[in-house]
Formats: sequence, structure tokens, C-alpha cells
Amino acid sequence: MEYKRSIIITGGAGFIGSHVVRLFVNKYPDYRIINLDCLTYAGNLANLKDIEDKPNYRFAKLDICDFEGVLALMKEEKVDGIIHLAAESHVDRSIKDPFTFARTNVMGTLSMLQAAKVYWDTLPEKYEGKRFYHISTDEVYGALEVTDPSGVEPPFTTKASSGKHHLAYGKKFFTEDLGYRPHSPYSAAKASSDHFVRAYHDTYGLPTVVTNCSNNYGPYQFPEKLIPLFINNIRHRKPLPVYGKGENVRDWLYVEDHARAIDLIFHEGKTAETYNIGGFNEWKNIDLIKVLINTVDDLLGRSEGEDMGLITFVTDRAGHDLRYAIDSTKLQKELGWEPSLQFEEGIRRTVKWYLDNQDWLDNVTSGDYQKYYEKMYSNR
Ligand code: NAD
Ligand code: TYD
Repeated sequence: MEYKRSIIITGGAGFIGSHVVRLFVNKYPDYRIINLDCLTYAGNLANLKDIEDKPNYRFAKLDICDFEGVLALMKEEKVDGIIHLAAESHVDRSIKDPFTFARTNVMGTLSMLQAAKVYWDTLPEKYEGKRFYHISTDEVYGALEVTDPSGVEPPFTTKASSGKHHLAYGKKFFTEDLGYRPHSPYSAAKASSDHFVRAYHDTYGLPTVVTNCSNNYGPYQFPEKLIPLFINNIRHRKPLPVYGKGENVRDWLYVEDHARAIDLIFHEGKTAETYNIGGFNEWKNIDLIKVLINTVDDLLGRSEGEDMGLITFVTDRAGHDLRYAIDSTKLQKELGWEPSLQFEEGIRRTVKWYLDNQDWLDNVTSGDYQKYYEKMYSNR
């Protein structure tokens, strides 16, 4: 079959990437979708079981740092679009192992950019109809102040931020024109990769676009991140390690809303632009954790608040950013995107998913998923 487009999605076996792959494979049967992923501890093909047999889907086990391999794949598949999500993504790991973050996030992104440039340069139409879309994080902007409570309403009220939680925790928000002030090795490496992407546009004219998104939550997130880790611990009545006093503020967005934004921006975003994506949905960690406890207890038929005693304050994360808050007005005004889910509904849906998918959690916490797929792909 002659496909209308041929798109590589990197990191498609991870949390956000798997939602993006699923959305594209199902929504665009006339697009060829290639999931390029080397399956680190965070990559799990079980996240894509429901679509792995679709004719327009291909999985390619490849490291983004393997420039020759990536270039050959682009040529073979006549790729005209790249949605780049592959990265090392956990701040705590970056504090222990910064080199891996520089290798994957910086050198890996550079390798993807250069492969796209080299391949597209060989084509008669060059960059026409092409797109290199880089997915980044709000953490590159650094940290904001908390004035508790600020009484400031976010620039617009969305469904997700309506109700009692749409007051911000400070007067400032991350906007697209803000300078970068990353604090962790993770955010420093992401910031560096963002700079390379923009440099490839400014220097070579590569048709790039960059988005910076707030914290995502939802199904298939690796249980080292706050929400899935704590849901699993509450279920098994294990302690909940809250860093510092739990006063840090994060802006949470349901992962499918992020995937919808990626779809929209891939197709309609302007070349060389940056768009912020966020939920206008700020929560102090400690308040969020209490919601998680109440929701798990409720869904498991335990009495309300029964597991509050699991909260355990532990030593703070080094360089722990106090507050993230994204202003995504530009995306709303220019492309009409808004978060669709009310937070309470998104959290309930998420908790229910993890409780209903204990096998998935057991599999990733034991590492069994890697053994299975390693065997399956070792002789391909
Ligand atoms: P994740 O850790 O769940 O998944 C990362 C994926 O990338 C995994 O499948 C892994 O196998 C793959 N990968 C890692 N190194 C690779 C390499 N060298 N070659 C090929 N594949 C490799 O990450 P996530 O949370 O889904 O985040 C995806 C992207 O979105 C990242 O770029 C991250 O910075 C960004 N982001 C994440 C969040 C969030 O809340 N999770 C928020 C904003 C932006
Ligand atoms: P995390 O999910 O790691 O995302 P990020 O650091 O990218 O925002 O953490 C979310 C917040 O929860 C962050 O303020 C750190 C805090 N946290 C804990 O208090 N305890 C934990 O065990 C984890 C993983 C995170």
C-alpha cells in the first residue's frame, strides 16, 4: 500500500510515546507509523499490544544514538515526519547518572536531527512537506515561586482547571518567551536538546517545531514516577516517600490530552515555533497524594483515609524545583487546544486503570517484560 505519510515516532514504547503511537496508528490508517525505540528499562512493548498487528505499524528496535542505523531506516521507509520523544526522563535517575542523560537526550537528539537533514537533503523536494517535531518539558524553564495561595487565576479557565482547583500557586507562569534555567541534569540535557533542534532550523532551515509540556499522568507510566509509584504502594500498603514537606507544586495533564496536542501541532503547528502545553492544573504534592489515597481506598472498598498513615516524609530531592506552571494560552489561541478532562475524573480513571492492570505493574516492577521482548527481538 502507498502510504500518505511515513512517520517515525521515537520512544514509542514508553509512557507518552505509546499513547502517541496508538493515536496515530488508529486515527491515520493511511499513514505508515514506525515506532523507533531501543527498549531501555522504560520501554515496554506490552504498552502497545492492542495495535501491534495493525498493517500500518512497524516496530524498529534501534538506539537513537545509532546515526547510521537511523539514517538507513529513514531511507528505507521514506520518512517525511519525525515525532521525537525518546529520552531518559526521570529526574532522580539523572541525579545518579548524568552521563546517560547527556548521551541519550543530547547526542541522541543530535543524531536524529543530523540523520533527518542528511536524508532529506538527498531528495529533490528537500524539506518541503517535512517536519521534525521535538517533544520537550516545562522543566527547562527552571522553577517558579510559591505564594500560598496566590489568588491568581490562570489565564483561562478550562474544564480541567474549573472547580475548586484553578487558583494558581504564584503570579508567574512559564511562557514561550522565557529564558531557560534548568536545574537538574535531566532538564539541563533536555534544554540542550531543545537548543540543538532550534539551531538546526536557524542554521540549515530544517522544518522543526518544539513543545514544552507539564507533568503527564495516566495509564502505562513507569512506576518510578510519583503517581503510579504511589498508587502501587497504597494498594500494597507500603510507605509513600514524600520528598521534603510535600510542598512542591506540579501542573498535571492527562496523557491523552498531551497526545491530542501532539497530533494537532504535528499537523498544524507553525514551523520554528515553540508551544507550551499544560493543564492549568496546579497541585501541591501533599494534596495530590491525599487525593490518591482517598481514591485508591474508595475503589478498593477500604474506609476513607484509612491509608493516610503511609505518608512518610523523607530527605528532599537535591535541587528540587519548587513550582512548575505552564501558560498554554498560545496553543489555545492559535490552534484551539484545551485539556479535555477534569482532574478528579482523570485521577479516578488513572487509579482504576492501575488497579485493574496489576499484571502490567507486576511485570514492570519485576523486569519480566524485558526478558520476554529481548528474546523476541534478539533474532530479528
Ligand atoms: P519514558 O521514560 O516513559 O519513555 C522513554 C522511551 O524512550 C522508552 O520507551 C525508552 O525505551 C526510549 N528510549 C530511551 N533511550 C533511548 C535511546 N537511546 N534510543 C531509543 N529509544 C530510547 O518517557 P516519557 O515520560 O514517556 O517521556 C517522553 C518524552 O516526553 C521525553 O522526551 C520527556 O522528556 C518528555 N516529557 C515527559 C513528561 C512527563 O511527565 N512524563 C512531561 C513533559 C515532557
Ligand atoms: P516525578 O513524578 O518524578 O516528576 P518530576 O520530578 O519530573 O516533576 O515527581 C513529581 C513530584 O513528586 C516532584 O515534586 C517530586 C515528588 N516525588 C516525591 O515526593 N516522592 C517520590 O517518590 C517521587 C518519585 C516524586
